[in-house]
Parts: sequence; structure tokens; C-alpha cells
Amino acid sequence: MCGIVGYIGSNEKKEILINGLKELEYRGYDSAGIAVLSAGELKTFRAVGKICNLENKCADFISKGFGIGIGHTRWATHGKPTEINAHPQIAHFSNVVHNGIIENYQEIKKDLEQKGHCFLSQTDTEVIVRLFEEFLKDTEDGFEAFRQTIATLRGAYAILLISVKYPDKIFYAKNGSPLIIAKGNDGVYFGSSDACVIGYADKVVYLKDGDVGCMDIHSFESLENIRPLEQNKAFAQKDGFRYFMEKEIYEQHKVLLETMMGRVNEDGVALESVPDGFFEGVDELIICACGTSYHAGMSGKYVLERIAKIRTNVVMASEFRYANSVMRKSEIFIVISQSGETADTLEALKLAKANGLKTLAICNVDNSSIVRESDAVILTRAGIEKGVASTKAFATQMMVLWMLGVYIATQKNLLNKNDLENQFTSMVRSVKATEVSPKLHERLKRLSKRYLHGHGFFFIGRDVFYPLALEGALKLKEVSYLHAEGYPSGEMKHGPIALADSLLFTIALVPRHLLGDKIKSNVEELSARDSTICVISSEEVETADDMVYIDPAQDYMEEFFSMMVALQLLALEVAIKLGNDVDMPRNLAKSVTVE
Ligand code: F6R
Repeated sequence: MCGIVGYIGSNEKKEILINGLKELEYRGYDSAGIAVLSAGELKTFRAVGKICNLENKCADFISKGFGIGIGHTRWATHGKPTEINAHPQIAHFSNVVHNGIIENYQEIKKDLEQKGHCFLSQTDTEVIVRLFEEFLKDTEDGFEAFRQTIATLRGAYAILLISVKYPDKIFYAKNGSPLIIAKGNDGVYFGSSDACVIGYADKVVYLKDGDVGCMDIHSFESLENIRPLEQNKAFAQKDGFRYFMEKEIYEQHKVLLETMMGRVNEDGVALESVPDGFFEGVDELIICACGTSYHAGMSGKYVLERIAKIRTNVVMASEFRYANSVMRKSEIFIVISQSGETADTLEALKLAKANGLKTLAICNVDNSSIVRESDAVILTRAGIEKGVASTKAFATQMMVLWMLGVYIATQKNLLNKNDLENQFTSMVRSVKATEVSPKLHERLKRLSKRYLHGHGFFFIGRDVFYPLALEGALKLKEVSYLHAEGYPSGEMKHGPIALADSLLFTIALVPRHLLGDKIKSNVEELSARDSTICVISSEEVETADDMVYIDPAQDYMEEFFSMMVALQLLALEVAIKLGNDVDMPRNLAKSVTVE
């Protein structure tokens, strides 16, 4: 996800901005840029790729004396990772950097174009700086123009804006994306995390959603809630969490909103990156992926078939490659990949293309090999995932598949206005359901102590909850090194139940809204054979040895997302209790670029 830095003061601005951006590299990015305004001159530098490319571009630039500056690392969401799309985004005499997504940028852009603005980039961000200059036509008050600009925007943002007309001020706004302001002996600093100001500043303010302001070198002390700044960088990169995996579990509700933003509302789903007519004449989907992405595909199959009534076949990329599968031109080949570089998935994609199939990638990394190879792309917008065990990428893949289901169903005229509204409110509730409640986390911390031994785990569920059970088992295996299997609960008595005894731990996913009673019967069968049973549900199940309660939900998708969080936390806490390196589990790599 993008990173923001800013500085007001007399030290070497370029150096401070670039050092700050380097501290934010861990968030992931595909281009970077800075703008420095000093002695009446505004200089902007941008480069695609690593920060060293940006450093090369501005190697000869120095700015002496007082000035202001902003910087940015961009993770492409609207428009390719090119220099013109990199931030700062430029208008006539102002520059802006922005994290997040402006949902109504197309309306604003159209309006500004009618007023004579000529847009240079494909970004949503450019509307901010052009809108600001438009409002300045009617007022000399820079802050008033900025306030009006922010009031026009819909979406999530952290914004820093500078203008030649106001050479000592940085305008800032926060809504949904993180932004801090900090102060040290040599000036005032901005950042999207405190990691980039540690070493420079000793006081900090964590801005709240809705904060809009105008900062100069003197106004920091007038802010509310000034706190001392934590000085441990590694801790700061993890936003205070013990592991990146934990941080990524906690940020799922935020990234899911980004996944949805600008694409879905009560009227339906708009996927601007999918060409019109892409699904015309298509009678079947093939979803192909590996590992966690494969599990998202498997859950997606149930959702796609249920909502869009389209036959969906899910294949494991490593198997598909050599299976000589029969492919038909009326099928669309969908690959799912967090990294976009998984060798098996990439080769399967090439194979499908060679057979003349249309291809669609659901991917987290723009410009990755899989994205470049596919005919159409839906980015998951999870931001960089650092924990080797995938969490937030899975959540966003699932959301994209759900949106795709609604999208295809709409094209087939399967949903009326009321259905569309229901889908949307269910999505919004599902996102909310991924917000980690302290009570749930505490419960799993305590419970994990009881699940450190035994001869294995069965994770069981039905329908969408079956692949979720597979994913819960995979998470536990990866980080705890304990043996765990996922099973459809109805299949237990066809063999696996032979393993049941008190040292077999069963984690049962018991929803209220989809086949709950059926799973309860399967739980009883296991309980009768003495398996130790932990049920994840919003309702008590009498035969359970342990209960993990999720909040009552209004539908099964909301339950799906709640249970997903509980399973991720369970794996995390068991692994921590066992003393494992949660973020870098043994034998695993984040991106599997070999067969
Ligand atoms: C599990 C995990 C792996 C990946 C798999 C595919 O936590 O991360 O199973 O899901 O290697 O990777 P991507 O999605 O990058 O293609």
C-alpha cells in the first residue's frame, strides 16, 4: 500500500523525504516521487520502480534554506505504475500526494474537464490537485479552497498538498487511510506511519478520520492529542503488532473497503478493468490457483454458482498444467494469485491462452507477470502482504469473487434492485465482521494453550465453509507445524472418522445460516467417538468441548468472514505459544516462482 511523507523545515528536504520513503518500503510500491518547494521554486521528481531510481533522478538537486516537501511511494490501483501516474500529482502550481481511493473521481474529472482542465495521468489523485486550483479561482484563502476540495471527495484518503501560492504550508486531510504529524527540533514531519519519522521527531499526533488542516512550522503545538513518539522502528513498521501476520489480520476490514471502493454500491458492481461484453457467450468459468488462493477459488465457486448461476470448475494450477484438460472457447479462465508470480499459476495461464481461452487475473500485484499475461485484471487491493501465511490477500480475493458473482448475475439479469441492495449491505456487513474484537482475540489466546499437542486437527465445514476449513487447516499447518486437515464434514464418516479419539482435535465451522444443523450432526458423530471439539459459531453447540463465539450474523457470507478471522487468529496464537517465527515459517517462501 502507498506511503506518504512530508517535511516543513530548513534541513535538506530531499534527503529527509527519501529517507522517510525508504522506511515505508515495507508497505510495497511500484513507483515513487517527491516534490520540494523552496525559495519560490517547486521541483517534482518521479520514477518507476525502486526508490534508488528516484534518487538517481534527483541526484543533482539540492535545496538550501527553509522549505516544504512531500513524498510518496505508490502501489498502483487506478492506472498503471508509470512515471506519469506516480505521485506527486501535478496541476499548474500545486502538487499532491494521496493514499487511498477517490470513489467519485470520474464525476469530478468530467466536471473539471468541462471547465477546461486537461488531465495528464490516469489516476484518481489528479482530481484533488486540479479541484484545489479550481476552487482557488474564487478565493485567496488556500485553506478554504482545500477544505472545499476535501468536502467534494468521496472515498478513503490521506492527502498532503503543497502550492507555490502558499510556500510555507502543507495542507493535509485524513479519512480512512493512516496519517500522522510529528515534530522534532528541526521541523515538522508527516508520514503514513511513525516508522518514517523515528529518529527525526519526538512528538506525534495520530490524525483522526475527518481531520483536515493546514500546517506551518509554528502550528504543531496547536494540535490536540500530542504524544511522545515510540522510538522502536521494527515495532513501528508492524504498527505495534507482534507480527506482520497479526497486523495483516487486523487490517482486513480496511483493505476490504479498498477492494470494494468505487466498484460496488446499492446499484450493483462496476468493474472498470473488465472490458464490456467480456462475459458474453461464456457458459463456464475455470478458476485456477495454488494454496490459499486456490481455497479462495473453491469458496468462490459456491458463491458464483449460487449468485450468478454459472458453472464453475476450480483447478489446482500444479495439477492442471499436465492434465491435458479439455478446454472450450466458451469458458473463461480465471487465475487467482496474491503475488502474481506463482510459477504454476502463470504457466497454467499461458496454457489456457494458448488454447484460445479468454483470461482474467484476480491479483494483488499490478504489473506482475500474471497481470501482464492476462486479458483482464481485477486487482484485490490488499496492499503488500508480508506475513508468509496469507491472510488479508485471501479475504480480498474472496470479496472480488463475490463481486464478480454479482457482476455476472447482473449481466444475466438475475438480480433485481432489491437483490442488489441486499448483496451490497451483506458485503458491507461482512467487511465489518472482519474487524477483530478484543474479546474474540483474547478468547483465542486463552484457548490456544489447550491445542498445542494431540495427534492432529480436523477442520470441518460444508459448502463455502468447507474451503474455509481447508484454509483454516493450511494456516495452522504453515505457522504451527502441527498436522491439520480440512474436510467436508459430511465426508468424515467415509473414512477419516477412524482417526477420532480424544487426541484428535476437531475445529468445526457451524454457521446459523447455511446447513448449520447438518454440521451439528457431524459434530455429534465425532463427539460420540471422543474427538475433542472446538466449535466456531454464534450459537452454543452442546456437544462442543470448547466454543469460540462469533457475533450473530444476518447471512452466511457474514459468518464466513467472521469465521475466517477466528481461524487466522487461532493459527497465529497456537504458533506464538509454540515459539515459532510466525512471519517466516520454516520451509516456506512468500512467492513460489519455481515449479
Ligand atoms: C498460504 C500461502 C500459499 C499461497 C500460494 C499461492 O498462506 O500463502 O499457499 O497462497 O503459494 O500464492 P499466490 O497467491 O501468490 O499465487
